[in-house]
Amino acid sequence: MFHFFSKKVFLKDLLENFVDMHSHILPGIDDGAKNTSESIDLIKGMQALGVKQFMPTPHVMQDFYPNTDETIGDAYQNLLGALDSKILSEITINPAAEYMLDDNFQKQLDRQELFTLKGNYLLIEMSYFQPPINLEEIIFKIKTKGYLPILAHPERYSFYHNTKDYYKKLKQLGCFFQLNLLSLSDHYGKNVEKAANYLIEEQLVDFVATDVHNGIHIKKLSNLILNKNLIRKLPAIIKNTCNTFSVI
Ligand SMILES: [Fe+2]
Repeated sequence: MFHFFSKKVFLKDLLENFVDMHSHILPGIDDGAKNTSESIDLIKGMQALGVKQFMPTPHVMQDFYPNTDETIGDAYQNLLGALDSKILSEITINPAAEYMLDDNFQKQLDRQELFTLKGNYLLIEMSYFQPPINLEEIIFKIKTKGYLPILAHPERYSFYHNTKDYYKKLKQLGCFFQLNLLSLSDHYGKNVEKAANYLIEEQLVDFVATDVHNGIHIKKLSNLILNKNLIRKLPAIIKNTCNTFSVI
């Protein structure tokens, strides 16, 4: 059989000047960077991937990471104080948050005290075991309060893997979808990779992001090779992400 030689296309080939709207690089407040030195290593690694604008999104999760505007603001100031002026001149950092849909979230939503991404976009996540029983009601309420909900990594919720049509329902309710770039590999497992490809194929993905927590994530992102279908489909999603969240 005759084989044509073809050049491999790496994910990072598409990430020049990328605007990353989901990561865990703020020091010491969730399961991401443990301290400023780890934060700086992650930032340098992500710069090497092409990331230019950083929107760190620490977990706000009542049971494990009860972050507030204050803890996020303090971690951000610590990081700014630790970064040298050369790096600071090359990148932007605008913190937001990733909200777990728990009871505390609903209280904060009532008080409209939420840390948004640019343009009132609100990054939300759910438990990996089960969605909240009143999920559709919560999405409706988020929208009523004037926020635009973005569901983080929909492909990672395995309870939807056998009922993929429900993803379309969530989009109809007004939820935007942010896919994790690592889900384009088998990093989270084959089923997550399959769900990611389904969501891209069905044009349900609005935004992509790294969701970087540690150096292993960066290494895997840096080695990630795209298949032909992704080479075709991913650039438009990357472009939409950058256009929507760029602050420059
Ligand atoms: Fe995250």
